[in-house]
Amino acid sequence: MEKVHFTEEKATNLATLYGRALDYRSAHPILGDKAADDAVRRIDYDFTKIGISPDRAISVVLRAKPIDDWAAEYLRAHPDAIVLHLGCGLDTRFQRLAPPETVHWYDVDYPEVVELREKLYDQAPNQTHIASSVTDFGWLDQVPSDRTALIVAEGLTMYLKPEAGTELFRRLAAQFPSGQVICDLFNRTAIRIQKLNAPVRKAGATLYWGVDDPRELESCGLTLESSLDAAHWATPDDLAKMGPITRFQLRMLKVFRPLARTAHIVRYRF
Ligand SMILES: C[S@@+](CC[C@H](N)C(=O)[O-])C[C@H]1O[C@@H](n2cnc3c(N)ncnc32)[C@H](O)[C@@H]1O
Repeated sequence: MEKVHFTEEKATNLATLYGRALDYRSAHPILGDKAADDAVRRIDYDFTKIGISPDRAISVVLRAKPIDDWAAEYLRAHPDAIVLHLGCGLDTRFQRLAPPETVHWYDVDYPEVVELREKLYDQAPNQTHIASSVTDFGWLDQVPSDRTALIVAEGLTMYLKPEAGTELFRRLAAQFPSGQVICDLFNRTAIRIQKLNAPVRKAGATLYWGVDDPRELESCGLTLESSLDAAHWATPDDLAKMGPITRFQLRMLKVFRPLARTAHIVRYRF
């Protein structure tokens, strides 16, 4: 069993990992991430106190799935890409997407997080860990800058200070000949009401960066290609796997638009 002593934003990756494990254990999984469940079983931690209810577990996997689908689409079209998986936490996206050997994948997170990742998961030959804050920009020297880049950042942007986040995207867009950014964004309301976000509150983490309109990031040299607010993450297939109450709650998001607009999954090209 691996001990874990994460605090603040680093502890939030235990909540998302547990959400994916709960989905795997459910009767009708949406993401079906067995590696996440295996990892949870190897971590010596009381996951029940982390603020992830079965309902929240669904929102975790509903966010992960479109990001996986878009990333897989990019890698099918660009098998020579590098992938920068920023704020990777303990996510097993590499295992879920199983990229071809021609893709080189970089998982980036704080040193403590990377240390635990290395104990939990075998690394593939085309996978490299980078132990650094994403905003200590020196880490960018460790990745080749002559290949198209797929940049995936799930559950990261809201933890960055706005100036640091925009500088990060500006540098990424300038470093590679072309690429795509896939990430999620919270709006300013979600930042204001962050105390209602149980996993964030229980981790003792603070959310800083709210983006009301995904086009705001175009000032960093990105062009918005797609944007899905929270009412549009579940597909009809996903809805069919849910109980009636969860289905009803998700339908309500289509009615209460301000609630749906608190979170977006977005895709930009550069
Ligand atoms: C909510 S978790 C998401 C983890 C993972 N992407 C997932 O979906 O399970 C947020 C992650 O962002 C990482 N993070 C936050 N700020 C960071 C920074 N400045 N540099 C690197 N990682 C950061 C945290 O350590 C944590 O692993």
